[in-house]
Amino acid sequence: MPSILVIGHGAREHVIAETLARSESRPDLYAFMKSNNPGIASHCVETRLGDYGDLEDVVGYARGKGVDFAFVGPEYPLERGVVDALADAGIPAVGPMKSLARLETSKIFTRRLLDKYGIQGNPAFRVFTSLDGVEEFIRELPRGAVIKPDGLTGGKGVMVQGDHFDSAAEALAVCRAILERHSSVLVEERLEGEEFSLQCFCDGVTVAATPAVQDHKRRFVGDRGPNTGGMGSYSFPDHGLPFLRPDDLTQALEITKKVADALYRETGLRYKGIMYGGFIAVADGIRLLEYNARLGDPEAMNVLPLLKTDFVDLCRAVIDGALADMDVEFERKATVCKYVVPKGYGLPADHPDASSLGAKIHVGEVGDVKIYYSSVDLREDGLYMTSSRALGVVGIDEDIAAAERKAEKAIEAIGGPVDHRPDIGTEDLIRKRVEHMKKERGSNL
Ligand code: GLY
Repeated sequence: MPSILVIGHGAREHVIAETLARSESRPDLYAFMKSNNPGIASHCVETRLGDYGDLEDVVGYARGKGVDFAFVGPEYPLERGVVDALADAGIPAVGPMKSLARLETSKIFTRRLLDKYGIQGNPAFRVFTSLDGVEEFIRELPRGAVIKPDGLTGGKGVMVQGDHFDSAAEALAVCRAILERHSSVLVEERLEGEEFSLQCFCDGVTVAATPAVQDHKRRFVGDRGPNTGGMGSYSFPDHGLPFLRPDDLTQALEITKKVADALYRETGLRYKGIMYGGFIAVADGIRLLEYNARLGDPEAMNVLPLLKTDFVDLCRAVIDGALADMDVEFERKATVCKYVVPKGYGLPADHPDASSLGAKIHVGEVGDVKIYYSSVDLREDGLYMTSSRALGVVGIDEDIAAAERKAEKAIEAIGGPVDHRPDIGTEDLIRKRVEHMKKERGSNL
């Protein structure tokens, strides 16, 4: 019976633990978490609370439990080098080593990697170490600029012209503020189109795709309000998305394969873990927005419940470089994930709904859905939210309308000062996505 350590404490790690637990090998699961997630704990023989930056503690725990391998959920431990530290102790991991995790932790590294190895997909971009030339470059960009710091920002550090700032003078102020904290700033062209996530398993040589997903970052219905960690996501039974051409996904996978190869040529190390490409379909094809070195949250909740291949075997294939010998298969079903959040999530601290942060919630009869715990605190007298996303509710069915209805019905049974996005996965929203792409690409998608 294998024993496996899951690192992380959110809904993503809850679904990772659940998917490992349904392996035929009946693994003993352990979790190293920053806070106590009751969903993860329910699949584990034991859990430990700790700080992901304390590599000695993580490795000591893994060694003490004699785990066969670790699965690293979030990006922060990857950035800290947890996979390198585990490797030094002879424990393999699903997750890239620190220098390979730069794929996510340094957006500038990734842009330059694609350029150096002649891989298509970069938008027009420039890296600045001072404000010299920033204004001129921004004026050259027909649809405005996107400004990114070079480091982890929890999905909330990207500044978009038209959304977060307007004039070139404001853009300069944004760059100046970033350069006060970072040595360089990335300025890119603003792209118009529809975003999609393609999460792939990689063993350093072979790349295997999971179904494509569309996430929704904005807090409110109609993609309004502040950016969040993600309010929900959906996927289709054919594993594509209705606003994409089949060729878009072929290209996205091709880019990811070339990047895996480029990473090896650049570092001499094999990337073993998840390569999650955030892409955008535009008028003349697709562009890469960014890579993440981990599964998406919420997107992991769309794809892992559909996985037919034994997850422990798949993880071992990633670690052993044997992915080419494996059929990575997913059920042909639709999924709709909606995050239940405190009403005050993503809003200013003085907003009237701020009192919902930390409030108690009640999960009633939710029916045939999956519930994944995110930032919740299980106390003796019940379940409490924090200031972040609380529960991922996932409806799965033969078609998207049925999956969406299941998720909505389940959310009716969740009591407390909560909110969610009722538009995610609806026919109306998806039609708008298709119309948007038709407008960008002419009448043909
Ligand atoms: N869905 C956004 C992320 O996981 O970064």
